Order: sequence, then structure tokens, then C-alpha cells
Amino acid sequence: MRVIAGSLILVALSSSALASDADKAYEFRQGYWQVVKHEFGDVMAAMIQKKRPMDQERFQAAAARLAVLAPLAKETTPVGSESDESRALPKIWSDADGYAEKLSAFEKNVAALNQAVASGDQGAIAPAFKNVAGACKACHKAYRAD
Ligand code: HEC
Repeated sequence: MRVIAGSLILVALSSSALASDADKAYEFRQGYWQVVKHEFGDVMAAMIQKKRPMDQERFQAAAARLAVLAPLAKETTPVGSESDESRALPKIWSDADGYAEKLSAFEKNVAALNQAVASGDQGAIAPAFKNVAGACKACHKAYRAD
């Protein structure tokens, strides 16, 4: 699973070969969130909402990938990665403790979702999914420009 997540990140990075350059760090961040959105929105949400056929194996893979990806979120906001092209608010750096709380809520909820999906406990999946969506929204509301 780590290998898969690693290659996803590489795909996200390939359009910005200079991702290690501080100037380009925000592109890594945006690529990272696009990958998260793909697994959470385009795969999991779409299957739940019946916008694409349910595929248990793919659904489970998405949950597992998110669980691997979530702990990487903290590496997408290195100091100096603010940019006019980015919607990341300066508060991410000035209120690092508050941002860290949002990161840890995200990780915790994603881990719980992965567990619910892996266990096949249908009753637990929907609430766990909503909790992750709530963690996305809470962070965006506080730390991302509209
Ligand atoms: C801990 C904070 C945090 C959490 C949790 C979070 N995001 Fe974000 N997200 C951000 C920030 C900050 C940006 C702005 C990045 C930028 O423009 O530099 C962003 C940007 C995005 C973008 C736009 C990327 C682009 O191309 O500009 C998408 C899509 C996104 N997030 C999806 C999600 C989804 C889906 C979740 C939950 C599964 C989520 N995010 C959870 C902080 C968060």
C-alpha cells in the first residue's frame, strides 16, 4: 500500500518537477489534495451516491489509500510555501497548533473510515464517511480561502 501511495504522489508531482523548490511547494500541496479528492470524492462519494457502480474492491482500496495518504498532509505546508496562487491561508503557519489539530482530526477520521470499510460493517461506513467529509470541511473553512 505504501508503494501505491508513493506512486500516486509521484504522479501528482510529475507536472511540477521542481516540487522540492520552495516556490513550487504549493503545487505539491494542490496535487496532494487532488489525489485525496480523487479517492474520497471521485471514487468513494461517487459510489455511495450511485454516480458510479459500487465496486467493493475499489472502494476498499480508496479507503486504504486515504489512510496512507492522510499522515502526509502535514508535509504539504512547509514554511515558505505560501503563494498568491495558493488558497492556503497564512493562518496555517501563524496558528500551527490549530492547524495541527485539524490534521490530526483528519488522520483519525480517515483511519476510522478505513477500519469501518475493511471490517465490512455497513452500519459504520456511512457515519465514518460523514466524519471524514466533516474534517475536510472544517479545515477548509478555517484554513483555506474561498
Ligand atoms: C488539515 C487541513 C485540510 C484538510 C483536513 C483537508 N484539506 Fe483540502 N485543502 C487544504 C488546504 C490548505 C488547501 C489549499 C491548498 C492550496 O491552494 O495551496 C486545500 C485544497 C483542497 C483542494 C483543491 C486543490 C487544488 O487543486 O487547488 C481539494 C480538491 C481538497 N482540498 C480536497 C479535500 C478533501 C476531499 C478533503 C477531505 C477528504 C480535504 N481536502 C481535507 C486543507 C485541508
